[in-house]
Amino acid sequence: MTGIINWNELRKAIVSEGRRRRSHERPEEMWDKRAEEFNKSTRGGSERTEKQVASLKLDPDYTVLDVGAGTGRLSVPIAKIVKQVTAVDQSGGMLSYLEENMAEGGLSNYKAIQKRWEDVELGVDIEPHDVVIASHSLGMFDLQEALAKMDAAAKRRVYIFTAAGKWFFDDQEEELWERIYDRPPRRGGGFRSDYMLLYNILHDMGIYANVEIRDSEHVQRYGSIDEAVERWKERREIPPENEPLLREYLAKNLEDENGGGLVFRRRTKSAMIWWPKSESS
Ligand SMILES: C[S@@+](CC[C@H](N)C(=O)[O-])C[C@H]1O[C@@H](n2cnc3c(N)ncnc32)[C@H](O)[C@@H]1O
Repeated sequence: MTGIINWNELRKAIVSEGRRRRSHERPEEMWDKRAEEFNKSTRGGSERTEKQVASLKLDPDYTVLDVGAGTGRLSVPIAKIVKQVTAVDQSGGMLSYLEENMAEGGLSNYKAIQKRWEDVELGVDIEPHDVVIASHSLGMFDLQEALAKMDAAAKRRVYIFTAAGKWFFDDQEEELWERIYDRPPRRGGGFRSDYMLLYNILHDMGIYANVEIRDSEHVQRYGSIDEAVERWKERREIPPENEPLLREYLAKNLEDENGGGLVFRRRTKSAMIWWPKSESS
């Protein structure tokens, strides 16, 4: 049931803006390109990952479905705990790192499915799982439909991890953006597509979810300042004449990681939204 605001349509309008800007490449191609950097930045675990996995309260006999599993940042430690993991992702590039990381951990109790979540058919591609998770992977246009499918795929609980407030930009990056483009970052016409939209969509669906907001640190790793400049230029479409501003910013903010490369840390907040299926724990 929707009230004055149709949250799902509002979110579609917000994500449409980003899709128009990135219409030159399909999302799976974008993630294929980012896979190596993403894997380098997230493999080996982190406090954030440990905390996420601990929140799921997993039992050894559970099956877990990871929607938008990426390189297996969560699927791999989860597979160490539970009976079986199904990792769905649209990007073959991300999934090939997931397979590599599973093999490195000596794990074979998983199935990787390369598909858009929108194209996954319940009962055909996958059967219901005890727990369904989606962590920073809500690239679906129709979020309500995607959430309804996650709910239908879960026997016990669903967990969504998503942004609370700023995500891609923290205050310092906003400052850089303003210097480079002479305007603040334009994200969804000033309306952020964070957990509040998701929460309201769930509410309209009759799902009254629990929310926990937590501090979250994201790490990006680079071999050199030149590599960092190249990656940021590519990802943020920075005009070549403004490269010196970017280089100055990165030189100030990249930390040396014990001589093993450079690390960029972004401190943000994230939300864990979860709900139990009725008559389960
Ligand atoms: C930021 S990564 C997060 C990966 C992993 N969940 C994690 O937390 O480390 C986002 C991933 O979600 C996947 N994704 C986004 N939208 C998707 C969709 N509609 N169907 C399948 N995969 C999707 C992307 O391909 C990408 O691998």
